[in-house]
Amino acid sequence: MVLERVKAWKEIFKLAKTRNVQAEVNEYFRNNIIQSLTNMGWFEFLQTPRTVDEIVVKFNVEDIEYLGEILRTLMSDDTLIKISSDRYLCNGNHSIKPNVDPKVFNASIKQLLWTYADFIPKKLRGEDISFSGGINLFDWDDALSLFMYQQIRKAAFAYGNPLKNPGKFLDIGCGNGTQTVGMWIECLKRNLFRGERPVQLYGIEIDKGLLDIAQNEFLRLVRKQIDLPEEVILRYKEFFPKFSWGNIVNIPFENNTFDYVYTSQVIHWTDPIASIRELYRVLRPNGIAFGTESFLGGSDLYANLHVKVIKGAYGFFTKKDMTKWAKQAGFNAISYTTPTTIFKFIK
Ligand SMILES: C[S@@+](CC[C@H](N)C(=O)[O-])C[C@H]1O[C@@H](n2cnc3c(N)ncnc32)[C@H](O)[C@@H]1O
Repeated sequence: MVLERVKAWKEIFKLAKTRNVQAEVNEYFRNNIIQSLTNMGWFEFLQTPRTVDEIVVKFNVEDIEYLGEILRTLMSDDTLIKISSDRYLCNGNHSIKPNVDPKVFNASIKQLLWTYADFIPKKLRGEDISFSGGINLFDWDDALSLFMYQQIRKAAFAYGNPLKNPGKFLDIGCGNGTQTVGMWIECLKRNLFRGERPVQLYGIEIDKGLLDIAQNEFLRLVRKQIDLPEEVILRYKEFFPKFSWGNIVNIPFENNTFDYVYTSQVIHWTDPIASIRELYRVLRPNGIAFGTESFLGGSDLYANLHVKVIKGAYGFFTKKDMTKWAKQAGFNAISYTTPTTIFKFIK
């Protein structure tokens, strides 16, 4: 356990070398939200003190809960708005901070994040925005290969250590399959597709576009990560991961099926309590659920406003909440490593 923890930390340190990562990222999220609200005319409207009812009418708000999230977020930021006699008023400064360009982001993830922020008017009007709807697939495909994502995935694998006692492995919310492919390559290197109990890899994904990439571009994804001739890869065709459509809140497998279930940056997009219950259900006794999450505290309220535009997204939660839900689901050993995100629960 200690060795696994150290290995996970080493991966995260490589990310932390990019100085001021968290601060820059938080500034970026804040800028996006302020830009989107500015485009809607929020700050102009709040030059005059307004009641919630006036804000509701002005912006055709149906989703009162999301409006509450926006108001709470802006109120937590001294420079933006204040409340006096039940009326909200602009505090004077809502300018975008210049030159905020996190080094851990690329053009695709920036486009993706802006798309989410730009959905705010629709979200307030009560329109349903699905994870796949309106999001550019190329941007997700490209963003998932970011160094930032690679490092947290590596850290999760170092800590979860699914190669220690390999068997049946499921990647939930596998996206374009990048990490399932990474696991497949490690199994190939260790000769784990032979013997009496060859490793079996599965991936499920809710977004049909990303699932399509995982299912149909396996060779490209493998060759992106390792220089292997196509004919060598094809020799192992029967052991390619089996990708299918699936929702983490209703995992399409029987009880007690897997030795390991892995899920990275998925749970906050849906119902976390139901998700964790499902992780438990499909694991065999002593099986391990591991992966990454972004917790409130590290991830700020502005980031949360991006996530919560998606229908049904719970948004970020605390480590304390996750621990409570994991215990309620029945997990025995619950542990975390690295300040960011890595968790491991044993059934
Ligand atoms: C930030 S991406 C991470 C992808 C992948 N796990 C990785 O680390 O590269 C989040 C993924 O969760 C998927 N997702 C969102 N809600 C889901 C749900 N309810 N069930 C399964 N997958 C879901 C999305 O479609 C997307 O592929």
